[in-house]
Parts: sequence; structure tokens; C-alpha cells
Amino acid sequence: MGNLTFLFITLFLVPYANALDCTQIWSSDIRDGNTVNFPKSDGSMQTLPGNFNCVYNISAPTNSTNGFYAIVTVKNGLQGANDYILVKKITGTQQKLVSSGNKVETFKVIPGSQLSVQVVTKSVVMNSQFAVSVEYHGVVIGPKVQMKTGAEMNYLDVKTINHGSDLFSSVTYVSKEHIVLTLAGTEFDYHYDSNVYDTCYFIDGTFDNQQKIYEVDDFAPDKDRDFTTIAHHLTIVSLQEKVIQVVLNPVSEVQQFDDLYALPVTNTSENYYTTNNDAYEFVNFDSVGIVMEVVKVITWPCRAVVVAGPPNAESKVLLSLDSNPTKPQTFNVKYLTVVSYGCNFEFTLRSSN
Ligand SMILES: *[C@@H]1O[C@H](CO)[C@@H](O)[C@H](O)[C@H]1NC(C)=O
Ligand SMILES: *[C@@H]1O[C@H](CO)[C@@H](O)[C@H](O)[C@H]1NC(C)=O
Ligand SMILES: *[C@@H]1O[C@H](CO)[C@@H](O)[C@H](O)[C@H]1NC(C)=O
Repeated sequence: MGNLTFLFITLFLVPYANALDCTQIWSSDIRDGNTVNFPKSDGSMQTLPGNFNCVYNISAPTNSTNGFYAIVTVKNGLQGANDYILVKKITGTQQKLVSSGNKVETFKVIPGSQLSVQVVTKSVVMNSQFAVSVEYHGVVIGPKVQMKTGAEMNYLDVKTINHGSDLFSSVTYVSKEHIVLTLAGTEFDYHYDSNVYDTCYFIDGTFDNQQKIYEVDDFAPDKDRDFTTIAHHLTIVSLQEKVIQVVLNPVSEVQQFDDLYALPVTNTSENYYTTNNDAYEFVNFDSVGIVMEVVKVITWPCRAVVVAGPPNAESKVLLSLDSNPTKPQTFNVKYLTVVSYGCNFEFTLRSSN
């Protein structure tokens, strides 16, 4: 091979190989307001050779006071039926993108978490294309608060931690026990609004010490409505103002029951029916005052109480169901728990104004 031919191959091949050698994001690229595009720095789509297989790791570093979050946009220009892009989300679940006529998907990476994008083509070159853009934002980590104890219920309307137009807000609960987070609301409220899925995350732990990340999608109707932390910390992260309401309990409070439910009280009367050793925690997120009507007690004797707080001995008893109350009861409280010890009964609740 003559020198000229060698020079030609070198000049031709090197830039091409460089563009596709699985280059990762440099830590110096992680700056507030910076957007990193790859594999091409101008953000345009890259055509892939055959037998391509790269994993791009995208992380958002943090310490206990300051961190970064990232919005990741994947442009999917896959053409080959066997080519794919596998996105491992921050929750650990994987989403496989296949040829679909140039679609764009976005993913979020919260402080202290990592997302990976694996791009794979098979041996036959199908002119598949892709591009990834990562937009970094510097953020201040939200406060740590002690979980309330005794007769005080721990509830949060996530939109109340958003400060105006801020895109990022968080709060970390600290407890002596493991924490049970229960989504307040019906599955219907959340499952059919896919817009909420990547606007709110729950971290088992703190930003700089994470056990697992949950997103609202993890609470679809066929899945659980709650989870118990491994850590003694629970962090709630909100990236947009959406109606997501939660109730938190120390695990010992939950373990005494077959089921513990958390529900919002609204101005529309809702009907509930209980049979087992259950606790129903109700919160009037918008105002104060809850009206309860016992529609029917089916089994006597009935051991059930309504308490002004979470289901523990320190919460004051508002009503004992040893006889059937004949008229609706109005309680001047923001929250209460209906505790049934195997009593079989039906009741309704609404807000009082
Ligand atoms: C990407 O992350 C995975 C999992 O943490 C790790 O095993 C792999 O070495 C990382 N790859 C690069 C290029 O940093
Ligand atoms: C966290 O990082 C920020 C900026 O990156 C720095 O100013 C701050 O001192 C760090 N805090 C801790 C507790 O390390
Ligand atoms: C009930 O609440 C909804 C939502 O908060 C509100 O739009 C509606 O006007 C209320 N209805 C009554 C009768 O107060």
C-alpha cells in the first residue's frame, strides 16, 4: 500500500470512527444550562453502520445541597426491523425503542441518578439513525423535614412544594422508621393522565444516598398503590405542577392492618365499603371540614372508630360505631382515619364546604 493510499484511508476513516466510538459525556460538560448532543455535536442525526453496539451513560451528579437534573431527548430514526435503542430509565425499568418513523422521546434524570441509552444495529446496514440531546439544569436540593408523629398526619399535595415557575423542587422526610408512601386518590385519577408520569418521582432515600426511584407510573391499577422505604428517608421530587397527593405513615402504623388506604376528600360525596381490618386515611387537601354519613352497618357488633389523625393511639376518637349514627356527622378537621376492626359497613364522605 502506497503512502498516499494510507494517508487517504486515515483521513477518511478517523473522523468517522471518532464520531461513533461510544463517546461519553465529560464531567466538564455538566453545567447549568448546557446542552450536550451526541453522537454529533450539532444535534443532527447520525447514520449507523452495521453491528453497532454502544451504551451511553447519562448521569446527573449531586451532593447533599446542590445537584443537576437532565432532560434527555432521544431522536429515534431507526429503520431496520432488528435495530433497537434500549433506554434504561432512572427507575430501573427498560423501554425498548424500535423503528417507528422518526419519533422523539424524552426522559428525565434527577440528581444522583443515571439513565443509559444502548444503541444496537444488526449486521445488515439499514441506514438507521439516532441522536441524543441532554439538557442540564443546576438545582438546589430541597429541605429535610422530620416526619410528624402522634396525632398529626403526614400528607402532601405535591404541587404545594413547587415555587412558581421553578422546574424543580423537592422535600426529604426523615423518620425513625421505614416510611410507607401511599398515593391518595383512585387509580383512575392517575393512570389515565400519562402527563404526570415523569413530573414526579419518589426516592427511597436521599438524593446522595438512593435505594430506589419510583415514578407515578409504578402505581398503575394492576400494581401497588404504596411502597415501603428501605431507608429512613423518603424524598419527593416534583418537576412540574401536577395534582399528585400522597400520605406517609411509619411502617408500624400500617402493619397492624390488612389494608391501609389514602384518599382525598372532595366536594363530591364518595361511597366506601369496608370488610376487614382496614384503615382509610382521608385528607381534605383543599380546605377544612369533613362530612361523614354511615350508610349501613352490615355486621353487629361493629368495632370501628373514626379518629382525628393517623391510625394510632394518640389520635382522638371522633366517633365510635357501636351504634348506628342516624344523621351525617360533620367533623371540623382537615384529615381523619376510619378504622375498622373487621366491621362490615358502608359510609360516604365529602368536604363540608
Ligand atoms: C455505564 O454504566 C454501567 C452501569 O453503571 C457501567 O457498568 C458501565 O461501565 C458504564 N459505561 C461507561 C462507558 O461508563
Ligand atoms: C455541593 O456542591 C456545590 C456546587 O457544586 C458546592 O458549592 C457545595 O459546597 C457542595 N456542598 C457540599 C456539602 O459538599
Ligand atoms: C367542587 O370542586 C370543584 C374542584 O375543586 C370545583 O370546580 C366545583 O366548583 C366545586 N363544586 C361545588 C358545588 O362547590
